Amino acid sequence: MTLSPQWLDELRSRTTLSTLIGRTVKVQKAGREFKACCPFHNEKTPSFTINDEKGFYHCFGCGAHGDAIRWMTDQRGLGFMDAVKDLAAEAQMEVPAPDPRAAQRQEARATLHDVMAAAQDWFVTQFNGIEGTAARDYLKNRGISDKTIKEFGFGFAPDSRGRLKEALSIHGVDQLVEAGLLIKVEDRDPYDRFRGRLMIPIRDPRGRVIAFGGRILGDGEPKYLNSPDTPLFDKGRTLYNLDKASPASRQTGRILVVEGYMDAIALAQAGFEDVVAPLGTALTENQIERIWKMVEAPILCFDGDNAGQKAAMRAALRALPILRPSHSLNFISLPAGQDPDDLIRSDGPQAFAELIAAPQMLGEKIWQVEFEAEPLNTPESKAGLKKRLSDHARDIADHDIAQHYRQDFQERYESAFFAKRDSHNRQGQFQRSKNGFKSQYVSFKPMDDTKSVLIDGHDLRIAKAILGGLIRHPSQISRHFEELTIMRLADSQMQALLSELIRAAMRKEMLDMQGLLTILEQTDCYNVAKGLLRADALNFIFNRKLPETAPSELIERAQSDLAEAIKVITARPGLEAALAEATRRVQDNLDEESYAEQQRLRQAKQEFHERLVELTQIDDVV
Ligand code: UTP
Ligand code: MN
Repeated sequence: MTLSPQWLDELRSRTTLSTLIGRTVKVQKAGREFKACCPFHNEKTPSFTINDEKGFYHCFGCGAHGDAIRWMTDQRGLGFMDAVKDLAAEAQMEVPAPDPRAAQRQEARATLHDVMAAAQDWFVTQFNGIEGTAARDYLKNRGISDKTIKEFGFGFAPDSRGRLKEALSIHGVDQLVEAGLLIKVEDRDPYDRFRGRLMIPIRDPRGRVIAFGGRILGDGEPKYLNSPDTPLFDKGRTLYNLDKASPASRQTGRILVVEGYMDAIALAQAGFEDVVAPLGTALTENQIERIWKMVEAPILCFDGDNAGQKAAMRAALRALPILRPSHSLNFISLPAGQDPDDLIRSDGPQAFAELIAAPQMLGEKIWQVEFEAEPLNTPESKAGLKKRLSDHARDIADHDIAQHYRQDFQERYESAFFAKRDSHNRQGQFQRSKNGFKSQYVSFKPMDDTKSVLIDGHDLRIAKAILGGLIRHPSQISRHFEELTIMRLADSQMQALLSELIRAAMRKEMLDMQGLLTILEQTDCYNVAKGLLRADALNFIFNRKLPETAPSELIERAQSDLAEAIKVITARPGLEAALAEATRRVQDNLDEESYAEQQRLRQAKQEFHERLVELTQIDDVV
């Protein structure tokens, strides 16, 4: 028996949910909705809402959510078919008899699979033949190995309107059209859809080819052409490479989500096999749910440029309404203008590994995007930020999660705008002397606020590593006092810890790790500090526990790496801003001077980046 979605919709729309539910619990009208005490959890004041128009119920207390059918299965404990039959009887609808056409459709899908498999074989044959030379050269130029070519099944569609149609004629033109391989326009003769393109088979979770992506060789429009939606292929419900990524993710506990299938392939070749990509569209709810079945917090990778960050925010906002406990999204931003494939080719896999070792969490991402959305130099603009953040928190359907986000945004907001005065006062009591901080009783010149550096996004994770490094090497805190005091960490817990570290170092000149931890034990930061000692996600030498007997060179190396990381992270935001400004100038007015300046800054940024990558390559030293 198959019930079509249309039939089920009809059933839902003929059922008045509040009446149905009202038979079991007492419901009250509240505006356009109905309210009741939730039958799924214990409560005295009603937070269970019924919306007849939309046909669903939702409990703001426990998150119970569903439609009429769900009510019958979850509350009344019926099986799906019994629930449907009961509702149908009441709605005076006939439950459709077992449908012979459904069996036929099943059959048709089976033959479409055969058609796609045959097309895949044919494209591969063309790829390996004389006509495939350009396609093979193209992949070679992109650094795709023969092994990857085989594994991912690259093929080639010759530049012809009838070759595939002829080669696969045994399957019949209608099937070929239905499979999306031929284009049929009105009553003209159908012709090959993919012409003169490198062919990338798109596989379903079982590894069967269900569609193709065709990339033009060289320049031309459109760059990529995908199969249309067919009975086998639904763009918004398919993830490229899911069949390979799913087993790989069981090894790594991770899923990477990239924007393009060439990125997925390049990453897999570089050893990151737990990677999927949507198919030329923004990530849909359905795709997010699919990924959540594999891992709780996939890492979404986006270009650091404007368009990429917009796309990241779109994905973030789309996830909010469907967030549920333990499930979230993580984000990384690539250097502007680069996708994962570009990054791996220019900087190597390690550079990518560094990025994914330090992803941003969903809340942090939303905060960062909103924080950077516009200048925050007036009370109105600051309040505007607060409003946008609370709107986002309101989009979260899960009650507990929403509450945590509200609090997280609130803390970030307060530490961004209100915490500074506080730290002024505290630091006002201390003065720095040449060799550390002698006394807390001498007065200290107030900090120059204009010099503060906001550290957020990806750099926040590096800042965490630095904090961890400072706890392991407390003698270094006073050495970097100047830089540390201008750092403003866009994470209130981390900022609080940083302040405590500075304070502890100012009070006590000779400080070892145990001594520092004893001091931190008196503060709210102790658990955070201990957490940073445990976290070894970041591969800096200063995060490692060095043996007691470690040679002094090793300790010096750790401390000088720490110094460099601090330098990079405090200089980088300024550099980024200068680069953005220079880039704007180049765009407005391209002359040699502004161009040279922009290039110089780009170079400097690249060097910073490479330096950080080098700092994490320590397996040879420890
Ligand atoms: P990009 O333009 O970033 O392509 O589009 P890319 O993945 O870097 O491809 P290469 O490296 O130039 O070969 C990202 C994704 O958007 C979809 C494709 O899925 C592509 O992978 N896209 C792009 C299209 O569907 N059509 C297009 O014309 C362009
Ligand atoms: Mn690319």
